[in-house]
Amino acid sequence: MTDNPGYLVSKVLSKEEVAHRCFKIGFDSILKFQPGQFVMIWLPDIDEIPMSISHSGPDFTGITVKIVGEATEALGSVSKGDRIRVRGPYGKGFEPSGERPLLVAGGIGAAPLLPLAKQLAGRKSKIRAIIGARTQNELVLTDEFSDLGAETEISTDDGSAGFHGTAAELCRETVGKLEFDSIYCCGPEPMIVTIVEIAQRNGIWGQASVEKMMKCGIGICGSCAISDRLVCRDGPIFDLAHLDELHSMNKIF
Ligand SMILES: Cc1cc2nc3c(=O)[nH]c(=O)nc-3n(C[C@H](O)[C@H](O)[C@H](O)COP(=O)(O)OP(=O)(O)OC[C@H]3O[C@@H](n4cnc5c(N)ncnc54)[C@H](O)[C@@H]3O)c2cc1C
Ligand code: FES
Repeated sequence: MTDNPGYLVSKVLSKEEVAHRCFKIGFDSILKFQPGQFVMIWLPDIDEIPMSISHSGPDFTGITVKIVGEATEALGSVSKGDRIRVRGPYGKGFEPSGERPLLVAGGIGAAPLLPLAKQLAGRKSKIRAIIGARTQNELVLTDEFSDLGAETEISTDDGSAGFHGTAAELCRETVGKLEFDSIYCCGPEPMIVTIVEIAQRNGIWGQASVEKMMKCGIGICGSCAISDRLVCRDGPIFDLAHLDELHSMNKIF
């Protein structure tokens, strides 16, 4: 197999199962990134897929992968010492803002929000995080948010832990009780639609990380287009007000 010179061939340094079929993987490339940016990971003979950068340290960069199909299965099967092929980081990151930010994650949506929480914690923002999943054993990275000092609440669709309901429902309840000056979210489309509506109704600025099928990751192939924007190049982070505009014109979601 020939390596594409555009890739960093990175050694896997750590791998930890953090939820059901969900793994936190650290590799030895040091990438300068903004929270919300992603890398493309090439799984030879299978596919190349986008992954948000979820954590980092002085000598490593990390992702958190949820197994949903063939490529994520292959990525989730790597072991310490294996090599993975990574290019990036790509896309626009979150703009850290607000003294009282609310972060809302659905499932693996917690991954791009974790480095944002770290950045906001460094700015002494009083962070509240809502981490939701379908069921308890699919909750991702909750301890990591708490360890950063975020007041962390969990929700499960089936009521097996925390609030019984979706992260968006808990977000609506929380915004009704407490004051926030920014909302950041990542998760399934129905969740983002609801949070866009909550933020607009309450006049709160915010941003969401949007997922679309990607092939090139760098604005060439057009596979990730929404309206006149490319998620890989103009996103994946978009202002909630812009998503509201696109949604009301039936251009997304
Ligand atoms: C910017 C960005 C960041 C991402 N970050 C992460 C991350 O940190 N961790 C993580 O586990 N996953 C992340 N994803 C999603 C991940 O890339 C997909 O789950 C992966 O490509 C699926 O590949 P697969 O071959 O395993 O599954 P497939 O068989 O290709 O897909 C399984 C199912 O997921 C759907 N799907 C696949 N890719 C996408 C996509 N990009 N958008 C919406 N639906 C999709 C398919 O329609 C199908 O229903 C991210 C996606 C984007 C666009
Ligand atoms: S993935 Fe090719 S243009 Fe966005």
